[in-house]
Formats: sequence, structure tokens, C-alpha cells
Amino acid sequence: MATDFLPINGTDHIEFYVGNAKQSALFYHYAFGFEMVAYAGPETGVRDRASYVLRQNKITLVLTTSLHPDSEISEHVKKHGDGVKVLALWVDDATKSFQETVVRGAEPAFEPKVLKDEFGEVVVSAIKTYGETIHTFVERSRYKGPFLPGYKARSSGVKAEPIGLKYVDHCVGNVELGKMNHWVDFYEKVMGFSLLVTFDDKDISTEYSALMSKVVSNGNGYIKFPINEPASGKKKSQIEEYLDFYKSAGVQHIAIATDDIIHTVGELRRRGVEFLYVPETYYEDVLDRVGTINENLEELKKLNILIDRDEEGYLLQIFTKPIQDRPTVFFEIIERNGAKSFGKGNFKALFESIEREQELRGNL
Ligand code: FE2
Repeated sequence: MATDFLPINGTDHIEFYVGNAKQSALFYHYAFGFEMVAYAGPETGVRDRASYVLRQNKITLVLTTSLHPDSEISEHVKKHGDGVKVLALWVDDATKSFQETVVRGAEPAFEPKVLKDEFGEVVVSAIKTYGETIHTFVERSRYKGPFLPGYKARSSGVKAEPIGLKYVDHCVGNVELGKMNHWVDFYEKVMGFSLLVTFDDKDISTEYSALMSKVVSNGNGYIKFPINEPASGKKKSQIEEYLDFYKSAGVQHIAIATDDIIHTVGELRRRGVEFLYVPETYYEDVLDRVGTINENLEELKKLNILIDRDEEGYLLQIFTKPIQDRPTVFFEIIERNGAKSFGKGNFKALFESIEREQELRGNL
């Protein structure tokens, strides 16, 4: 096997550009149980923006807002609403990662640069991917600070109550009609990923709408990026609705792994997070499809958690409603019991649920 020209240790962080980072930070703190660990803004000498860094186990979120109308951040928020700007990848060599991908055709977002403060140094570089999203490569082996140089340690006054969120399982991109294969090629050729699985409209169409999806993964499998494009149906697909409101391709959902989905989802619900709803009939024959599971079906039903099985095991999953007013980005909570797949058996029930929501929004 050829050596991996882009070794990746994992997801470094995910940065959202938002309209009001201070309030978003409180949402992730209270509802999702993320602890604030660092901050950059006027009080730390950064004049044009405020960024809050929140962490739970291996997941680091950065919430950034502009302090001025004329900035790349403000333009991003004006066009897309709150959304994911950066899917940052943790690498051992950010300079080489940049060179290897750019020589294979990646469009640079910014050249490698060294950031320093009293805690050491970090090398960062970045390339563009779908829409206005970028991949930042972060090399942090010589750094001991709370996040990145320029950020100061900061905690919130109230301690967060974590809910068992462990790591980023996968991040899904929605791209324009006809562009899925282009971006799959990009991840294969430019980033050295390989194609894991393909879903076509026969797998995942409902009466109204459909989508096509391919999943790419890096060499060690730590990074998984499903890429969706709309497929034609009788009415507007959920991917088209996303593209209409995000105004370009972009990140559709971030799936976060937990070891105890009943606890995690119970807490999220108690704290006010809303989820997609599947009807009770889903549970009538689900065990015929997925076989024996360790969890109590009644508990799963009460929380509306979905179940699927593949050759290697089963998984439990649930999807939040969009986390901002535009019907764009949402979260998935997933617990894997051996299964390495993405819940194909639940697609139909889920998409019917999404269509009910689209109908309520007048977008079907
Ligand atoms: Fe997913």
C-alpha cells in the first residue's frame, strides 16, 4: 500500500461563524454541556472579532463573531447565516500537508504560518473545500496552551455539566446538484481519502424527495466525510432546501459519538434541544429488522432514538432539528455497537420526518 501523503490524527476543531458568539457559547455550554476553555477578543488584544472555544472530551468547537460590518466573517454570516467555516484537521506537519494537497490541486486558503505565544508555537495552513468551507491543518506538537496562540484560557462562571459527548464521528457536506462526484474526486485525489460507501436514490428516496450520498474516509479512518447532493423527486429535497437557505454548499451535520446515547439524549431533551420525530410505528417492527440489542426498546422509543444494523454490529442514532433559524446545520448523536455504517435503514423514516418539517416551513 502506498504511504499516506496526508496523515491525520483526528479532527482538531470545528469553527462556526455566527451572529452572536457570546450567546451561542451559552447554548453549547448549557444545552450540550461544553466547557469554555479559551477566548480571543478585544480583552485579549484581538480587535476585530470575538471567539469562544468550548470543549467536551475530544470535541473542540470555536464560535466566532465579527465586531464590524465589513469583514469576511460578517459577509459569511450575512450570506449563510450561522454555519461551519472551518473543519480543522490535526496533523503532524501542517507545511507538508499544505504542500502535498496544493500540488495535487487544492486551492490554498492561507499559506503555512507559525503562531507563537508563551506556551509555544503552532503551525497552521488551510485549503478550500466545498462552498466557503475550509480545512485548516493544525500542527500543535510544540504547544502547551489552552487552544492556539492568541487565545487566552477562560472558563465560564458556571461549570458545564457534560453529557457524554466523546468525539466527532463524521461531518457531512451538502453540495450542489451534479457536484457530488467532483468533491469525492477532490477528497480522493487531493487529500488521499478513499471511497467507503455509496447511497443512491433507490436507497434513500421517499415519495417526494431523494438524495445521493458518497462517504469518503482518510487512511486511518478517523476522518469520515459523507457528501450529499440532491436527487430529483416530486417535491423539493431536503438538500435543495439547505442549499436555498445556506446559499451555497456547506456542512449539513456534525455527528458526535457517545457511549451512552440514552443518557446523552435524555439530558439534551431535558435541556431543551429539539429532535426530529419518527412515529411510534417505527418501533413496532424495528427489532425484526435489526435483531437483538442490549438496550431497552421502550427507553429508546421514549427518547425517539433510531436503530440500524450492518454486518459488523448495530448503531443507535438521533438527529436534532436545525440549531439556528435557517433550516441548515444540525447535529447527529450516534452510539456505535460495532456498526461502521451510517444508518441507511433509517433513511426513509428520517426523510419522511424531515419532509414533515419542510412542509411546516413551507419549503416542500
Ligand atoms: Fe450522519
